[in-house]
Amino acid sequence: MKIKSDRYRKILIVLIPVFIAGFVFAAYYTFFIGINTRLEGKNELKIPEILEDLNPDPQIAEFKLETRYSQMEFIEGKMTSTLGYNGSYLGPVIRFDKNQDVSIEVENNLNEPTTLHWHGLEVDGENDGGPMQGISSGEAWNAKFTVNQPAATLWYHPHLTGLVADQVYYGLAGLIYIDDEFSDSLSIPKDYGIDDIPIVVQDRSFKSDGNFDYNVSMMGVDKGDQILVNGTSDPYFMVKREKIRLRILNGSNAQNFNFVLSNGAEFMMIASDGGFLENPLEKEAIFLSPGERAEIVVDFSEFNDKSVKLISNDDLILEFVIDGELEKSPDIPEELVEVSEIADDEVLNTRIFELQSMGISGTINGKYYDMDRIDERVTLNATEYWVVRNAGGMMATGHPFHVHGTQFQVVSRNGEKPPPEESGYKDTVYVDVGEELVLKVRFKKEGLFMYHCHILEHEDRGMMGQFVVE
Ligand code: C2O
Ligand code: CU
Ligand code: CU
Repeated sequence: MKIKSDRYRKILIVLIPVFIAGFVFAAYYTFFIGINTRLEGKNELKIPEILEDLNPDPQIAEFKLETRYSQMEFIEGKMTSTLGYNGSYLGPVIRFDKNQDVSIEVENNLNEPTTLHWHGLEVDGENDGGPMQGISSGEAWNAKFTVNQPAATLWYHPHLTGLVADQVYYGLAGLIYIDDEFSDSLSIPKDYGIDDIPIVVQDRSFKSDGNFDYNVSMMGVDKGDQILVNGTSDPYFMVKREKIRLRILNGSNAQNFNFVLSNGAEFMMIASDGGFLENPLEKEAIFLSPGERAEIVVDFSEFNDKSVKLISNDDLILEFVIDGELEKSPDIPEELVEVSEIADDEVLNTRIFELQSMGISGTINGKYYDMDRIDERVTLNATEYWVVRNAGGMMATGHPFHVHGTQFQVVSRNGEKPPPEESGYKDTVYVDVGEELVLKVRFKKEGLFMYHCHILEHEDRGMMGQFVVE
């Protein structure tokens, strides 16, 4: 008996490790090799770095950006010539705290001039980075401002008339996050790169040698044959079964997107251009024209599928691979922030902006942009109504209308109350052919600013005006 049980023990000692090894291998195989096979030809979504604040004082932030020529492998085995801020394509995310004093040095290492504009940021004209603040090749420019607006997802890009579309297409753009006491304390996903994900969507075309194929004709701009997200082609992103916040920027030059989930599920929209909405909105689709942003929260714990895709019409934008266990994630509050209405106690002035385009070129109030002409003079801190109309006409398109130096409110769209997704602060609104929007604007910063169509090719060809706040 003793001998027999000894033998059993020996057999068991050999067998147990064999079983464990077999189990580990099977698990490894299904998890990693299985997933890899399924995602063959796909690339893991790139998450941009957060730009380092060079000043240890929390009250003061100091940043450094530089434009450079670079290369990037979007297509396997081929290199694409690109432009980037501090890197190969696009730029880092810049994070500001509300009330912080910010200084940013922008060095231009290109052989052509550029500027750097903070889209959506309320700063005075001199620090806005518009066409007047050109940075020559080899020079640097220093922007200084105090952050004076609520938490929001904004962005930065060049603004030198005639070169904007090209410089952005090749890679010059990046995101700005403003944080404040509300965004810090709200029960929403806020772990950068984990459950709070930047999503910069851009259409691009490639030549057979791997370089960008950027084509503009009299008729307009052709849609790119690929969609990049954060500069990643055919991207996928691994998520756990939890709530994930997506900060989506339509960073395309000219294309509109209508984002939906491939399983038709609803998600929550929590913020638009200028910050949080008052209440989260249940949505099945979210439309963004160039320059617009939306923050949405997708609850992956509700899905049984292994993969859910973010799509827009026929375009696959981003595939989410759902992996792992159910994770605890925050309950999104019914009330996010208070969105106070812009006061109309001051004298109200009404201005009309008629947008008109024919293919690739367009005008505002019948005029092309002229650097030496001031189109409108606005009183500091006065509230105004801006009526924006798209007159339509031959070869007309819709236009994303953008105003610098302010976050405005949409009063009406075609005579009706705007849809709830336009109830928050905005800096860019889509005005389709035949539409009329009324905006309530108030300028809290002095200086020279732009209003323009955010189809970058339209802007470059003069669909822009300038106003001075004094
Ligand atoms: Cu996004 Cu005038 O700019
Ligand atoms: Cu802007
Ligand atoms: Cu336009």
